[in-house]
Amino acid sequence: MCGIVGYVGAPGSGGALDVVVDGLARLEYRGYDSAGVALAGPGGLATRKKAGKLANLRALLEAAPLEPASTGIGHTRWATHGGPTDANAHPHLAGSGDDEVAVIHNGIIENFAALRAELEAKGVELASETDTEVAAHVLAGHVAAVRGEGLDGGEALAEALRRTCRRLEGAFTLLAVRSGDPSTVVGARRSSPLVVGLGEGETFLGSDVAAFIGRTRDALALGQDEVVTITAEGATITTFDGEPVEGSPFHVDWDVEAAEKGGYSSFMAKEIDEQPRAVADTLLGRSDAEGRLVLDEVRISTEELAAVDKVVVISCGTSSYAGQVAKYAVEHWCRIPVEVEYAHEFRYRDPVVDERTLVVSISQSGETMDTLMAVRHARELGARTVSICNTNGSTIPRESDAVLYTHAGPEIAVASTKAFLAQITACYLLGLYLGALRGTASPELVKEVLEDLHAMPAKVQEVLDGLERVREIARFMADSRSVLFLGRHVGYPVALEGALKLKELAYIHAEGFAAGELKHGPIALIDAGQPVFVVVPPPSSPHGLHGKVVSNIQEIRARGARTLVIAEEGDEGVVPFAEEVIRVPACPPLLMPLLTVVPLQVFAAELAAAKGLDVDQPRNLAKSVTVE
Ligand code: M6R
Repeated sequence: MCGIVGYVGAPGSGGALDVVVDGLARLEYRGYDSAGVALAGPGGLATRKKAGKLANLRALLEAAPLEPASTGIGHTRWATHGGPTDANAHPHLAGSGDDEVAVIHNGIIENFAALRAELEAKGVELASETDTEVAAHVLAGHVAAVRGEGLDGGEALAEALRRTCRRLEGAFTLLAVRSGDPSTVVGARRSSPLVVGLGEGETFLGSDVAAFIGRTRDALALGQDEVVTITAEGATITTFDGEPVEGSPFHVDWDVEAAEKGGYSSFMAKEIDEQPRAVADTLLGRSDAEGRLVLDEVRISTEELAAVDKVVVISCGTSSYAGQVAKYAVEHWCRIPVEVEYAHEFRYRDPVVDERTLVVSISQSGETMDTLMAVRHARELGARTVSICNTNGSTIPRESDAVLYTHAGPEIAVASTKAFLAQITACYLLGLYLGALRGTASPELVKEVLEDLHAMPAKVQEVLDGLERVREIARFMADSRSVLFLGRHVGYPVALEGALKLKELAYIHAEGFAAGELKHGPIALIDAGQPVFVVVPPPSSPHGLHGKVVSNIQEIRARGARTLVIAEEGDEGVVPFAEEVIRVPACPPLLMPLLTVVPLQVFAAELAAAKGLDVDQPRNLAKSVTVE
């Protein structure tokens, strides 16, 4: 939540504004309640900020241009403290003369009320309702003190920021510039994301690498509780206590084209189309010539993994539905209990977790605060932790015992699509790996499932190629007030994901239910014309599952529901009870979510577009949820 950019170019180069605004454009998916910039030039600090999307700030910059500068910071906001107004937009200014500072922030400063009261008691007048402005005033106070002690240049601002951070509680990334020092940006991070980009004669800070990917792919990850000072020559890092530390260098393995729309109407449309590739890339290099699994990134010893007696999956939103799919697969292949829990619930009860528990976190961004806090809690309880993550160098994998990266490439649209398919694929791999290790999945079974998995990208493509009717239905249903989604077994999390996609993109009431649960209450919602998507398991499913779902379709059809059925090619049993049948290719029942979710993604995106909504940036949301 909130996108942050910092930049220092060569003295006199004067291009900071363009670099910062370009960076904000690439980070806008992190929040779009307001945007603002501050430049540090020879004449001091100059800021522009505006409520609403970045386009509003761009218009303001046209109307009221800034003098060129080589150093700047920029922010795109997801509001927490104070509404999305001009006054609450970042940067926030504090101090005066050479010691004036401009500050931008991501996260929540939990002791801001006490600090605010302290400042007000000293006569400081605050111009906004934000916790950020409080931090800016605390920083300005330390700048004046530090400079009074004789420190100057970048070291003065860095030391003042360290002192400030030691006073702050909560999770935060802060960036600051000072009027008297136009060649330095300082940054600090505690639990919120911040990475350094190392260019040729220019240095960057960003909430993620997208901020600077157009100019460099060489980056440094920062650790917890660290302060970084950047100049055009590079970066120096210390702890909050001033101990020098090295950042962890990494090279970004995707380029700027991957973070652009490439001719599509939206990032989401592009990312939906990239799904066959996302699945294929996540599988790539994970099995050897004999079809055996190779998971090098799992760095927990085989003895420890073999001793695991319970798996707990923690995650949020779409990632948690990938976790629910994992439960069916891992329990089936590994004969081990799997609990799936929202990360934000896990931490606040008293979970039964110990050193024999494997806690698997799933996160596209690797920065979701609820999930990060749950991982930390699990480690405190002694559990071994594996992160399934799409973002190299992000916090959750860095703080986990092992990581299984998904290789979906950058996901920019706020609504997750290709990352979901890649997460499910990674869960299958982890399940097979554990099953092989525990002896519950034979080498033959592992080989067979791997072959099935390698066939999935082509099948996902087949689904994508046959969705014109789904698009028509979506346009036709643009005025719907409520849509229900039913599924059983692995179709149940797919139903939940279909409902989430529709809620977040089209702002339509949508609910996903386990089909068998309907008769226990929710069936009362069904009346004439109620649209209901039903995710039907293949006829080959065990335990007569298919027949049960066909009965559920009949039950709702009898009560007037409009049944929109997603079923395998050749499944004729559903035809008499379906107003529409959306076909997907045949595949093993456990792998079906990789196919059945795709029509639901496209349905939601098309319907939202038909309503004239912003598919990439739905209201009130942000891509990376870095507050609890
Ligand atoms: O980055 P993460 O996977 O941890 O994000 C989790 C959720 O915030 C995310 O999946 C969210 O639900 C998306 N908006 C779903 O489309």
